[in-house]
Amino acid sequence: MLRRLIRPARRLPWVYILPVLGLCLIEVLIHRSQYNVPLPAHELDEPFFKGCQEPDVNHPRENAVMVMLARNSERVYANKTITSIENAFNKWFKYPYVFMNDEPWDAKFVETLNKTAGGRATFEVIPKEQWTFPPSMDPKAAKQSMKEQGQRGLPHAGSEGYHHMCRFYSGKFYQLEALKKYKWYWRLEPDVDFTCAITYDPFVHMAKNNKKYGFTIALWEVGTTCPSLFRDIANWKELHNIPSSNLWKAAVQASWVPYPFRQMLAYFMPHTDRFGDMWSLCHYWSNFEIADMDFFRSKGYQDLFEYLDNKGGFYFERWGDAAVHALAVALFLDPTQVHHFEDFGYRHDLLYQCPANAPDLQLTEAEVLLGNKPYWPERPGGVGCRCRCDGDKPRNHPGYCLNKLKQPNTRARPWLTWIL
Ligand SMILES: *[C@@H]1O[C@H](CO)[C@@H](O)[C@H](O)[C@H]1NC(C)=O
Ligand SMILES: *[C@@H]1O[C@H](CO)[C@@H](O)[C@H](O)[C@H]1NC(C)=O
Repeated sequence: MLRRLIRPARRLPWVYILPVLGLCLIEVLIHRSQYNVPLPAHELDEPFFKGCQEPDVNHPRENAVMVMLARNSERVYANKTITSIENAFNKWFKYPYVFMNDEPWDAKFVETLNKTAGGRATFEVIPKEQWTFPPSMDPKAAKQSMKEQGQRGLPHAGSEGYHHMCRFYSGKFYQLEALKKYKWYWRLEPDVDFTCAITYDPFVHMAKNNKKYGFTIALWEVGTTCPSLFRDIANWKELHNIPSSNLWKAAVQASWVPYPFRQMLAYFMPHTDRFGDMWSLCHYWSNFEIADMDFFRSKGYQDLFEYLDNKGGFYFERWGDAAVHALAVALFLDPTQVHHFEDFGYRHDLLYQCPANAPDLQLTEAEVLLGNKPYWPERPGGVGCRCRCDGDKPRNHPGYCLNKLKQPNTRARPWLTWIL
């Protein structure tokens, strides 16, 4: 009796389930195809030069500045960076420096760095109102939250200054009085090495090639520092009807879950937009940037920053300026406006990029001008000029997460692109 009741119920469902599964699969494939990034027909972003150039010191300079945020206690490491950039680049091009500090400068810092800096150096104190909580925020609640984030072990999240720094670099630095007169900036940080000679003016070639944002290393953000950032930015994008650029599509991992379940899952999943698609966490490591400040001064970016500032995530989470900049670049720019300086040798903390040297393009007849130092051997496919990786293997950063925008033969790990 019981068996007779159950048996028909066992056979029937597949008649319904199979077509439903089929429809789901078709729905998912259509959905995912909207995030398909067309394979570039040619490399979108070649290096400006391969190997060494005779530095063209007579070419007019761009309206550009080297900027470094530093503390008085970082004098030795700041001095190291400036020594390195002077040797690698600025001894020829003499761009001015602006040093920024949230506290008054020590005379000793000023004396040391003013001496090492070849270009004119100025030492600015950031006004208090640019280095603090947004007006809408209760500082007490923010401090309590930062304390808890620190106890949970989120990187740098226990330090109030670090949060102020991220907010400053996200929305304020380009409004600093001392920077207002410049268009381009090159961001420096204490404890950085430039391990190749940079024998051309990157500002000139950024401008000439209609680039707005340049980076050396792209990698994945630590997800726990910014669980709601992508949702907020995606909401802002929707609010302003901003179409998805190829950069945006490349930054999103489209969901494999069928509608409407992906939308329901989005309630529980960090880094998703409200439709359930997820940010890959790919971002540019912003301690190096060569970029156009007018991009950040644009109405669109300003409006986005105000929106994010009011959301509170610079303090109640630990949104980094790198993630904010990268998502804004994905929102507003075309892939051809972003430049990877793959010919630059760059090290900060434990991460580095050090390209192999371009064969037969090391300009050996210009020893006097370029300095007669031994350098890493040349390699087929190398793009660098006199790179010296100090015992490290030459490499571009292996976690190169913008693969979707690269031609297949230049992708770091083709299978990763397929999965994402
Ligand atoms: C700063 O760097 C210069 C080299 O550019 C060096 O001669 C000087 O000793 C350094 N000063 C400090 C305090 O590290
Ligand atoms: C830096 O040094 C130059 C001289 O080399 C001097 O004229 C200038 O006043 C110094 N700047 C600061 C901020 O001390």
